Amino acid sequence: LANGLASTPPMGWNSWNHFGCGVNETIIKETADAIVSTGLSKLGYHYVNIDDCWAEIARDDKGNLVPHKVKFPSGIKALADYVHSKGLKLGIYSDAGYYTCAKKMPGSLGHEEQDAKTFASWGIDYLKYDNCNTDGSKPTVRYPVMTKALMKAGRPIYFSLCEWGDMHPALWGMKVGNSWRTTNDISDNWESMVSRADQNEVYAEYARPGGWNDPDMLEVGNGGMNKSEYIVHFSIWAVSKAPLLIGCDVRNASKDTMEILGNTEVIAVNQDKLGVQAKKVRMLGDLEVWAGPLSDYRVVVLLANRSPVKDTITAHWDDIGLPADSAVTVRDLWEHKTLETKFVNNLTATIDSHSCKMYILKP
Ligand code: GLA
Repeated sequence: LANGLASTPPMGWNSWNHFGCGVNETIIKETADAIVSTGLSKLGYHYVNIDDCWAEIARDDKGNLVPHKVKFPSGIKALADYVHSKGLKLGIYSDAGYYTCAKKMPGSLGHEEQDAKTFASWGIDYLKYDNCNTDGSKPTVRYPVMTKALMKAGRPIYFSLCEWGDMHPALWGMKVGNSWRTTNDISDNWESMVSRADQNEVYAEYARPGGWNDPDMLEVGNGGMNKSEYIVHFSIWAVSKAPLLIGCDVRNASKDTMEILGNTEVIAVNQDKLGVQAKKVRMLGDLEVWAGPLSDYRVVVLLANRSPVKDTITAHWDDIGLPADSAVTVRDLWEHKTLETKFVNNLTATIDSHSCKMYILKP
């Protein structure tokens, strides 16, 4: 969407994966504090996004959305002021239907302009827009109404389309939003994570600065996968130019979680200015080579072993877009080491089950 936002994929945090409908203003404030105190904000994690269940079930007598009186007693404007005072941005959630997905608050269908103005007046920087409890019309009809309303609201607001890939939003999302979900909701387990990655991958060619494919938010740190599986999760999201929206409780994140979410070399791949989504360039059963171009003629390569046993995987230059016979230097982004020899024509590594290697290759 040509609103000047999302020249690289958005980075931040969202309440849903960990807190669900239990979100409240204390959690949001403490999360903002933690994003700053842990150093995550310096790495680019700027959005603090409230998901579903932040509002009262009834609008006020003028038809305005009302923040939940128990969960958000200070209101959203005060919360936005707080989050902005920390140098962060505040995101919120609504729905292109009559009620949101959790059915605990109203949606914005028929109130698009009013709600967009409300969000802008509160200082909202990001809107996630869901697709539950609609009038049955197509998302291609309902979503652009909110796009126009946001464009008129007088504040740049990142627009995240959440219609789960039903109507192939990669094909029409670029004019409507800054990212579009390509999948149903992720769960905190390996099978769910890799299937989201696969469903998202087929739309790679549609991602570019201003509009990104969204395989859903990160589960890193929520406990359902082991460390190497979370490394695969974060690596695939990074090369896929996916939004990096943390979904765990950052107030209590473990050292391993911080090491994954805080890998500056992997983040730099996600945020590379070229903005091209990597693709699977070779698959041998559960052994996969993902690759994509980066700025300055570099190439990012991900060797992912999705099988239950250790195995070797080879990336061939003709699969990953490097000239035959070229000698390249190889940087290992999880070991934080530049390999000692130059590689010609291919690169092979032995990789544990449910693990990966992520490299930048530089001719
Ligand atoms: C849908 C979305 C989720 C989350 C919930 C909230 O399922 O896909 O990401 O926002 O609604 O109810």
